[in-house]
Amino acid sequence: MPHKIIIDTDPGQDDAVAILLALASPELQVLGITAVAGNVPLSLTARNARIVCELAGRADVPVFAGCDAPLSRGLVTAEHVHGKTGLDGVDLPDPTMTLQDMHGVDFIIDTLRREPAGTVTLVPIGPLTNIATAFRRAPDIIARVHRIVLMGGTYFEVGNVTPAAEFNIFVDPEAAAEVFAAGVDLVVMPLDATHRALTSRAWVDAMAATGPVGRAVASWTDFFERFDKAKYGHEGAPLHDPCAVAWLVAPELFSGRRINVEIETQGRWTTGMTVADWWGVSGRAPNALFLRDVEAPALFDLLTRRIGSLDRHG
Ligand code: RIB
Ligand code: CA
Repeated sequence: MPHKIIIDTDPGQDDAVAILLALASPELQVLGITAVAGNVPLSLTARNARIVCELAGRADVPVFAGCDAPLSRGLVTAEHVHGKTGLDGVDLPDPTMTLQDMHGVDFIIDTLRREPAGTVTLVPIGPLTNIATAFRRAPDIIARVHRIVLMGGTYFEVGNVTPAAEFNIFVDPEAAAEVFAAGVDLVVMPLDATHRALTSRAWVDAMAATGPVGRAVASWTDFFERFDKAKYGHEGAPLHDPCAVAWLVAPELFSGRRINVEIETQGRWTTGMTVADWWGVSGRAPNALFLRDVEAPALFDLLTRRIGSLDRHG
């Protein structure tokens, strides 16, 4: 039976690749996609999610707009990384599929109440505002979640938006703190792992050769890479969000530890930090599988095969 998942996302080029991987993987049944404000404002993330679904020929996947701002802070966006549209790098037409009327948070609540308990996995690959809001509004759904597999956090790799914090956690640290404390089985895909999933020219060229969807992925990757190349000085872009979806499809490609992870929300310099107790010194109970290593060649082979199999419709 395929994993039933809800993808909560702020597309972003890497979110787009993650969504394509999910839609191309028979192991996963995407019940819906909920957009959240993050890389770019909500109006754009809700638009971009539909653009990606139509690119994959999956206008049947319901897309919902969720929260347009963090729980209790102003929104921080990342147009300097993802471009003004959030999907810069490829000119794609505005979506024709409509946005669902229901709020994304209500979709998460209704789906978890409708589906049998323990059968739905939440896959947040942006700030955790929608997830935390759903848990606040309907605490009864928390015990019904099978697992949360999220892209976010960092420890050995330090921060990418501040010296201490990774973007998804930093944008809404209060939401992250509530999700990490909720007691749901948590799989955390941090920069420690995703920075080992760097694209290569050979992979981008191979992806472009697979067809129109692969060409879009190649162009997005090229755009996305320019920022990391300028910042870190090395070739290749870290494909953050696809790693979270890839863990669901091929968990054996990743390794890490079950440890305690707390979220800093008060630090003058460290707000948004995932305080990962990798060496078990805190005595605090483990609450997350915190991943650190990835078999990158096998990951990129999976991406090429799966995304390469998508045909462009219409
Ligand atoms: O720090 C990386 C994360 O921030 C990714 O999810 C990327 O899409 C941005 O949202
Ligand atoms: Ca994202």
